[in-house]
Amino acid sequence: MTDHSKINAAKAALAYVKDGMCVGLGSGSTVREFIRLLGEKVKLGLKVTCVTTSFDSRMLAIEHGILVTETDAIEDIDLAVDGADKVTPDALLKGGGGALTREKIIDYNAKKFIVIVDESKVMDGVLEGEVNLEVLPFASPLIMKKLKDYNPRVRMAKAKLGPVISDNGSFIIDCDMKLENPKKIEQWLKSIPGIIENGIFTRFDMIIVGNEKGHRIL
Ligand code: A5P
Repeated sequence: MTDHSKINAAKAALAYVKDGMCVGLGSGSTVREFIRLLGEKVKLGLKVTCVTTSFDSRMLAIEHGILVTETDAIEDIDLAVDGADKVTPDALLKGGGGALTREKIIDYNAKKFIVIVDESKVMDGVLEGEVNLEVLPFASPLIMKKLKDYNPRVRMAKAKLGPVISDNGSFIIDCDMKLENPKKIEQWLKSIPGIIENGIFTRFDMIIVGNEKGHRIL
């Protein structure tokens, strides 16, 4: 899919941003388009305050003149806008960029959570694919053993020796799963000691799917 699809999804989400809102900014290439568009609106006079889910989004938002703050300085998150790696109408897989923990904190605490994706992310039937986990490094070997049936691997860095270190100083473990009951697996993974968060998201308000010409709501 080209960037047009991502831009069209981002544009559709922008229509939900109103003056005075606190907006949660997700992470990833689709959200980067949203941040750029939001920055243009801010330059034209829109007043928003944003909380971010990664250093990547934070840096881009600041670069685009958007006011960024922290969760202790706001009352509510009125709207969160975030991308996803795979979607069905009932659940999302997130964490390809390793930002899943902060994403879930911001997205689940928002009054409204809008997901923006392109058509390549939409799955028919049962949600299946890479489930990303943020884990405490100390617990990583035990978690790998516990999840041995799901081909777990510690995500390795590309421009650094050793594992990827998340924005929170943790490891990321990726595994492969077929999710007949995403809510149940989300909760089960949450219950394993040392798993800080998992990339299965089952609470959201709307999925906007961008395409070359416009968008549709899933
Ligand atoms: C970041 O950890 C992810 O959850 C992203 O939200 C997800 O990977 C979507 O990214 P893209 O918009 O780049 O596909």
